[in-house]
Amino acid sequence: MRTVDLIRRKRDAEELAPEELQQLIDGYTRGDIPDYQMAAFLMAVFYSGMTDREVSAMTESMMNSGSIVDLSSIPGIKVDKHSTGGVGDKTSLIASPIAAASGVVVPMISGRALGHTGGTLDKLESIPGFRTDLSIDEFRSLLAEHKLAFIGQTEEIAPADGKLYALRDVTATVESIPLIASSIMSKKLAVSLDALVLDVKVGSGAFMKKQVDARRLAQMMVGIGRRLDKRVQALITDMNQPLGYAIGNALEVMEVSQTLQNVGPSDLTRISLELAARMIYLGKITKTLDEARETAQAKLLDGSGYRKLKDVIQAQGGDPRVLDRFELLPNATGAQEITTSRGGYVSGIDAESIGQASAMIGAGRNTKEDTIDPAVGVILEVKVGQKIDPGSILCRIYYTSEEHLEEAAELVEDAFRISQQPVEERDLILEVVS
Ligand code: URA
Repeated sequence: MRTVDLIRRKRDAEELAPEELQQLIDGYTRGDIPDYQMAAFLMAVFYSGMTDREVSAMTESMMNSGSIVDLSSIPGIKVDKHSTGGVGDKTSLIASPIAAASGVVVPMISGRALGHTGGTLDKLESIPGFRTDLSIDEFRSLLAEHKLAFIGQTEEIAPADGKLYALRDVTATVESIPLIASSIMSKKLAVSLDALVLDVKVGSGAFMKKQVDARRLAQMMVGIGRRLDKRVQALITDMNQPLGYAIGNALEVMEVSQTLQNVGPSDLTRISLELAARMIYLGKITKTLDEARETAQAKLLDGSGYRKLKDVIQAQGGDPRVLDRFELLPNATGAQEITTSRGGYVSGIDAESIGQASAMIGAGRNTKEDTIDPAVGVILEVKVGQKIDPGSILCRIYYTSEEHLEEAAELVEDAFRISQQPVEERDLILEVVS
């Protein structure tokens, strides 16, 4: 069938057959279907959605667009972790070394910044020398040696997702449940995993703004995993304010280092430990989830998670000293303080605006050809619930060019809500779907 007819049928909310979806994914991956037609198809999916059968078929076609990486030669249970995307969300860089230090084999297939959210690969690449473009053989041998290695989609691993991800980012088609589910699951399942822990974010800084949508996304991904015989657990976690204090690639690496040394922000530490515990439990290192929580906590406190990340940075060509000497990371050339004229309690920090502002000054991409500026971003000085006085500093914007600074500063300033009443603490972990 002609591509235009498939687009039209999806636009009209018809269900496409698995072979039709495969035709689209294969044609796009080979370069036979141009970006403009795939962009139209993505927008049709955005509005018309997809049935479970379509999502599974699309995921499998994307997963099979490259080769399936066989890890059976590496002893141990393989468990990966993925987030649906948030602002200041650096949990992968904390949970995965803690899980690996506990004995789980963690083949991390990570993504890049998308929309207003950050990406693990971009954060890692802010470390001088760090290589994420490993060959599959290098990936395997690093996993065998360190139990943890980071790689992105390549020509070999779910290349269809690589192309679609970049196209969605610049065509306003990111926030779609079937597109997110197929994107995440195709690259995760392109590696022979045993289990997967998902962090499905919900709130202003997430792609899912409502808990009911986050639940649907979680169920869809757990279902795709189950159909392919993988154990999958999803946490639904709050993303109504940025996670931790740092937003921006190198700035987040600094916060990762602090958190792995147990002096990080409490929200980031809590979620990272829970994700690590679930990886440890699914990796069958412990018999119960409570024991897994104790193990994760112990590996944080004795510094083995921190040492594991250092070893992996070195093994992937990066300079491990960056975790102790932050001046070795790319540094911004200027900082602008955002202050408040009103006192009271911080009642909200709109994570999406902070993510957009940070992307605007270079931490994210506006077109798929854009390069990331690793040094820039925002550091919050306050979190929701905190009492502040008139004149308090709310955050600092770190920049290397003034080009979009004024616009970004306005967005950041408007992101803060201040109330005269004390604010109730929100739960961070809202639900578990398994
Ligand atoms: N993470 C991904 O890998 N894909 C998405 O679509 C969103 C978040």
